[in-house]
Amino acid sequence: MASKLLSHKKIERNVTLLAVLSFVAVTIGGIVEIAPLFWIDSTIEKVQGVRPYTPLEQAGRDIYIREGCYGCHSQQIRPFRDEVERYGHYSLAAESMYDHPFQWGSKRTGPDLARVGGRYSDEWHVQHMKDPRSVVPESIMPPYAFLAERDLDTSGAARRLVALRRVGVPYTDADIEKAAADMILQATPDGDAEDLAKRYPKVQVRDFDGDPGRLTEMDALVAYLQMLGTTVDVRSASPQEMRR
Ligand code: HEC
Repeated sequence: MASKLLSHKKIERNVTLLAVLSFVAVTIGGIVEIAPLFWIDSTIEKVQGVRPYTPLEQAGRDIYIREGCYGCHSQQIRPFRDEVERYGHYSLAAESMYDHPFQWGSKRTGPDLARVGGRYSDEWHVQHMKDPRSVVPESIMPPYAFLAERDLDTSGAARRLVALRRVGVPYTDADIEKAAADMILQATPDGDAEDLAKRYPKVQVRDFDGDPGRLTEMDALVAYLQMLGTTVDVRSASPQEMRR
């Protein structure tokens, strides 16, 4: 015991020896962490159901970013019991693989939104966006009523997908060609959405803002919120405990 302590003393008092041995320790640790990355194809576990955003959802996502919603809302459910009980299954890496930029965040003035899709009706969202305190009296969220008054700009739909394809989102030529039409179609009740649903499985097609005559930024934002966390089959990807 005493001799072990003595040799440790020797290392701590000899700066050169300490530096060399520290370097060796860090090198081994680094190799163990980094080397496996050269042999595995992907660090993202595959899960069923992940798909790129539809043009309408993507436009809603851009409005979400433009309005700074991320300043108060995260989109990442951590694997802790309190989070999972409140928000649902913890977030998987694959769920944000087509997010550029991702919206994980850590600021939660409001609740996490990673699985908010389907939790409320469209009417609730529209009312909440227009006047949060009319549905949640103690809310400190600012109102975004103007979104219902602003027509959605469909002219940039295709260019948006082209840009995303450049960074690896697998939009097809057909997706890009039909982007503007898809955007309108998704918010049209009773539209022929068969082809849209084939290219974007589980797409929700309806009028989202309660104003079927117009395509507004509110349509896009609500379409985005209503799909969050709804496309992925978390059971297909999770460790045994979730498969039971
Ligand atoms: C100043 C902080 C703040 C900003 C900015 C903000 N929110 Fe909120 N949000 C909150 C708070 C606080 C709540 C909880 C009270 C409530 O439901 O209104 C909330 C609740 C929500 C909910 C309900 C979530 C749930 O599970 O109950 C949604 C959806 C939502 N916000 C969307 C948005 C969107 C979209 C934007 C941007 C257009 C936005 N928020 C901007 C603070 C904010």
